[in-house]
Amino acid sequence: MVKKKACVFISGGGTNLRSIIKSSRDYNFPINVKLVISNKKDAKGIYFAKKFSIPHIILNFDKNKFEKIALKELFQRKINLLCLAGFMKVLSKKFIRNFKGNIINIHPSLLPKYKGLNTFKRVLKDREKITGCTVHFVNEKLDSGKIIVRKRVEINSKESPEKLKYKVQLEEYKAYSMAIRKIYNSN
Ligand code: GRF
Repeated sequence: MVKKKACVFISGGGTNLRSIIKSSRDYNFPINVKLVISNKKDAKGIYFAKKFSIPHIILNFDKNKFEKIALKELFQRKINLLCLAGFMKVLSKKFIRNFKGNIINIHPSLLPKYKGLNTFKRVLKDREKITGCTVHFVNEKLDSGKIIVRKRVEINSKESPEKLKYKVQLEEYKAYSMAIRKIYNSN
């Protein structure tokens, strides 16, 4: 199988990046991570790029410059899939159009519910019984593109936002790899 080439954009801890890289070491997984781009020079996730010998670039610039350089890298390296994993910048419409249909994101709620930030706090405040995570295609509207995979997480009474985040993140790791497999119809 010829694997597709993926790039992962991160801003923080990179635990989803780590999980995608681990999945990609499976012979049957449809992508290899060929590049990691961080918009933060101190993002912890850069450690995983180094650990697994994956080229990484730090683009600690304003949005315009970030996108210009990032897009050039994606095209030059013939990247097929862009995975956003804890990437905290909202990409411009122009950028999304340029890489159309090939950008996916993970969001810590059961979309279309709880778009945007601080999902865990809001979910708890609303006394929800169930939440989860969603991997979706990125379109020009925030957290609104076509859903690929969702995974549910039960909320216990008196659950803290931290504990809930931990439980949701465990499901995120599974969801991201499932979504990538689903996109390329592989098991
Ligand atoms: C994840 O919870 C994801 O849903 C959100 O940001 C977090 C990133 O975590 N978009 P990490 O950087 O992958 O550890």
